[in-house]
This record gives sequence, structure tokens and C-alpha cells, in this order.
Amino acid sequence: MAPGVPALVLLSLLSVPSLPPRATGCPTACRCYSTTVECGALRLHIIPPGIPPGTQTLFLQDNSIMRLEPGVLAPLTALRHLYLHNNSLRTLEPGAFHAQPRLLELALTSNRLRGLRVGAFTGLAQLRVLYLAGNQLVQLLDFTFLHLPRLQELHLQENSIELLEDKALAGLSSLALLDLSRNQLGTISREALQPLASLQVLRLTENPWRCDCALHWLGAWIKEGGQRLLSSRDKKITCAEPPRLALQSLLDVSGSSLICIPPSVHVEPLEVTANLGEDLRVACQASGYPQPLVTWRKVAQPREGQPRAQAQPEGGSPAPGAPAASDTGSGMLFLANITLAHAGKYECEASNAGGAARVPFQLLVNLSRPPPPAAGREPRAPGPPGEGALFINDYSDGPCTFAQLEELRGERGHEMFVIDRSKPLFAERLAARGTRC
Ligand SMILES: *[C@@H]1O[C@H](CO)[C@@H](O)[C@H](O)[C@H]1NC(C)=O
Ligand SMILES: *[C@@H]1O[C@H](CO)[C@@H](O)[C@H](O)[C@H]1NC(C)=O
Ligand SMILES: *[C@@H]1O[C@H](CO)[C@@H](O)[C@H](O)[C@H]1NC(C)=O
Repeated sequence: MAPGVPALVLLSLLSVPSLPPRATGCPTACRCYSTTVECGALRLHIIPPGIPPGTQTLFLQDNSIMRLEPGVLAPLTALRHLYLHNNSLRTLEPGAFHAQPRLLELALTSNRLRGLRVGAFTGLAQLRVLYLAGNQLVQLLDFTFLHLPRLQELHLQENSIELLEDKALAGLSSLALLDLSRNQLGTISREALQPLASLQVLRLTENPWRCDCALHWLGAWIKEGGQRLLSSRDKKITCAEPPRLALQSLLDVSGSSLICIPPSVHVEPLEVTANLGEDLRVACQASGYPQPLVTWRKVAQPREGQPRAQAQPEGGSPAPGAPAASDTGSGMLFLANITLAHAGKYECEASNAGGAARVPFQLLVNLSRPPPPAAGREPRAPGPPGEGALFINDYSDGPCTFAQLEELRGERGHEMFVIDRSKPLFAERLAARGTRC
């Protein structure tokens, strides 16, 4: 903080982008010497204008910078060290640092980053050290660090990372230090660490590790070669789960105790007939250890006469156009305002590291509309006042559709039935007959 200058005055001056830089070529209130610019702890909300293009080291820590405006770093092509720790950055746009091909060190510790978008670090071909500790990261998605071939240190400790996708670290062939301590990781796959051909230090402590079959490899790997990567302090990988292994060190648990229970899955009933316009919830209960992931999907079925290309593709995902009615996690299939398109075969799948289990479920749609209420009106009624019309399309595979109306087909054809509401007997007869399905 520049002594004697009220912070508010500074702020308002710095917020005016058109303000010309001082004659010395140093942003207001910052200190500049040689190729270093120091703007730390100045209550800045934006990167100040007027940073000399030749700057190699830029201190912007301990401010309140919330975002990197697009292009604001573009003139600073000579940057080697950029310190942005202890600010309020929430996101990094893809290509945020694309004009910094010489950057060696990037400090983003203690910001408010919740996620990292693929491409955020594109262009940092020389980057050696990336500090991302103390943010709010929850997931590391595939290919996040793809464009960092020289990166040697990646600091991700003290975040809330629950998920490290298998290809999240792809491309980090020079990485020597990976710090994932103090996160929320329950598991980590062998594939995720595979790209790290140069790894020398790995920190995984203080995560809620789930000591099951999926972590079997890690225990074995540390006991064998991986041990050299972990200092004695770093070897204390403590199980948080299952309860019988809680607080034990992964290294003290025998491999045969690291087990999973494959899922079993239950849907009741296995077939439901729903009426048009209704909402439907179907529960799928799964058990197993660890808690299985539950997914609903609609099974695409080729109709006779349709090309085989419409059939379900290999790999089990629904055919294009067939909406995947998937609801991951809750185990509940929820269908709102049911139409004929919802009818068909569904499948509930539960999977965990121990395996997968599936249960088929069938939804039939009752195309008959409820008997018209006495004072109601049909929206598409074409008839004269006092008459309502009931439109029914004849789907040959429609379930239970025409049971009640069959005997009228001869008279009126079966595309459309006209109901005279002035004859309540008709509706009563319909209701009384029920269905033969
Ligand atoms: C972070 O910056 C604020 C000013 O924005 C400062 O008061 C605080 O001490 C800094 N925190 C740390 C840990 O340096
Ligand atoms: C239900 O779907 C029908 C046909 O798609 C539509 O006309 C109607 O407005 C929908 N109703 C609700 C409550 O969404
Ligand atoms: C079909 O819907 C009609 C009208 O709502 C109803 O009377 C009938 O019982 C339903 N049939 C089945 C099988 O649910």
C-alpha cells in the first residue's frame, strides 16, 4: 500500500482504463524497477493499466482482482513470473494466458476458482510452476493441463477436489511434483497418474480415501516402486472408509481387505401403465459397496421396417434421437407430462468399481383420455356447442388403447370417436367396462 494516499482515491483512479500511464511508464501507485512491477496489496479490482510491455515480473498479489479482462495481459508478452495469489478470481477464460509463451511461474494460490476450463492454460509452453492451492476446485476434468509440456510442479493442495478424471493430467510429461493433499478425493485411478513419466514427489495425504478394490492398485504401487515418490510423511494415506478400515493406513491394510461389493439393483414394479399427461416417478434401488452410481436410460428399439442403423449402437448408449432419460445419482426416473413418445423399454443400471447390474423396466401409455368432466371443454372440439371430440391415433403397438372403444369401430371408423356429452350414459358405460389389458 502506498503510504499517505487514501485507498478510495487510488481505486477510482485505477478504474479508469483511459488514464494514460505516468511518464515513467509505471502504473499509478505501483512500484517499478528494471523489468519488475510491484502492485501488491493496493486494493485493486482490475489489473491496472499502463504496465510496461517489457515487464518480466509482475506482482499483483493481495488485491481483490475478480477477473482477467480479455486481452488485458495481451501486451505483456515478456512476462516470466506472474503473481496473482490472494485475489478473488473466480474463473479463467480459455486462452487467458495465450500471449505469455515465456511465462515460467504462475501463482494463483488463494483465489476463488471453482473449476478450470479446458484451454485455460493454453499457450504456456514454458511454464514450470503452477500454483493453484487454496482455491475451491471440485473437479479436474479431462485435458485440463494438456498444453503444459514443461510443467514441473503442480500445486493443487487445499482445494475440494472430489474427482480427478482419468485424463485430467494428460500431457504433463515433465511433471516432477504433484500435490493433491488436503482435498476430498475418495479414490484415484492408476490411469490418472499414467502420463506423469517424470514424477518424483506425490502428495496424497489428508483426503477421505475409500479403501476398496479401486484403491488396491495404489497400495500395491506404493509398496513396490511408488514408494520412492512418497516421503515418510506422505506415505500416511489414511482410510476414511469403509468403517472397519477407518483411520488405518492404506499401507497397513492387506490387499485382500480392499474389496468392493458389486451392485444389486431393484425396480418395483417392472411395468407401469401411465395415462397421457401424467407425471411418473420410478425408483431404482441399488446396493453395493462403494455406493453404486445409478443411471436410467431409454432402450432404443428398432421398429419393424425401419433401417437397422436406428438400432442401439454398440457400447450401450441410446440411439441418436432417443432421449437418454438418465438421472444419475438419485436413482429416480422422473417423466413429466407423459406422451406416447415416453412409452417403451427402459433400463436402470447401477455400477461401482466392483461391477454393474441392470434391470429392465417397461412403460405403457394409456392413450384413452379420462371421461370428459361434465362442465369441461375439449380444447380441439370441432363440433357444435354441447359436443366434444376425442382424438385418438391408432398406434398398433399402443398398449391397452382401444379396449374400451372397440365395439364402436364398425360405426365410426377408429381414427376418431365423437362423444356426445349430452349422453352421460356413454361415459358411464366406458368407465364401467374397464379394460381387458
Ligand atoms: C490477502 O490480501 C488481503 C488484502 O486484500 C490482506 O489483508 C491479507 O492479509 C492477505 N492474506 C494473506 C494470507 O496474505
Ligand atoms: C403436456 O404436453 C402436451 C403435448 O405436448 C402440451 O400440449 C401440454 O401443454 C403439456 N402440459 C404441460 C402441463 O406441460
Ligand atoms: C386408461 O385410461 C382411462 C381413462 O382415464 C381409464 O378409465 C382406464 O382405466 C385406463 N386404463 C388403464 C389400463 O389404466
